[in-house]
Amino acid sequence: MQNSEEQNFRIRRLEITDKRKGFIELLQQLTVCDSVSEKDFEDRFREVDSLGDDHVIGVIEDEVAGKIIATGCVFVEKKFIRNCGKVGHIEDVVVDSSARGKQLGKKVVEFLTDHARSVGCYKVILDCTVKNTVFYEKCGFKQKDVQMAMYFG
Ligand SMILES: CC(C)(COP(=O)(O)OP(=O)(O)OC[C@H]1O[C@@H](n2cnc3c(N)ncnc32)[C@H](O)[C@@H]1OP(=O)(O)O)[C@@H](O)C(=O)NCCC(=O)NCCS
Repeated sequence: MQNSEEQNFRIRRLEITDKRKGFIELLQQLTVCDSVSEKDFEDRFREVDSLGDDHVIGVIEDEVAGKIIATGCVFVEKKFIRNCGKVGHIEDVVVDSSARGKQLGKKVVEFLTDHARSVGCYKVILDCTVKNTVFYEKCGFKQKDVQMAMYFG
């Protein structure tokens, strides 16, 4: 069997069994993310899954270790402008700290942008910290405008 280093990592959609493979722990490397109960995970998974191609969560699994090591999501906004155009929004991109620098982040972002293009979005956008701008530039993005935010808690 291959070891973790020799794997040809593929990207696929999130599956309900991925909670057991450390999906939530991976998100905890991104931001505040409390543990999620089995029921809450299942409910949210089914809700997202029912949106089909309008909300896609991609993951890369280290199949040797049985662990999710990279993820990101894209959801599709339906607009009236631009001839009832669609915009893809990329969120929650994270690579496990032990697997960074191996082009996995880029693979995740490419998967998400390819998806947005394939469902007819005229653009795909995301927010990021200043320190991640070089990463996203390497993924083909350009810096534009500024982000405004209002948090409710
Ligand atoms: C940002 C993050 C997703 C990058 O993932 P990664 O798998 O390490 O990145 P990749 O190996 O795919 O890098 C692709 C390219 O971007 C470059 N890059 C990646 N992170 C970079 C950084 N912080 N600064 C400068 N360049 C960076 C790489 O050197 C590589 O360049 P190359 O193609 O010329 O070799 C990862 O570091 C991470 O999960 N960080 C913590 C969570 C986070 O900040 N997520 C983003 C939320 S907006």
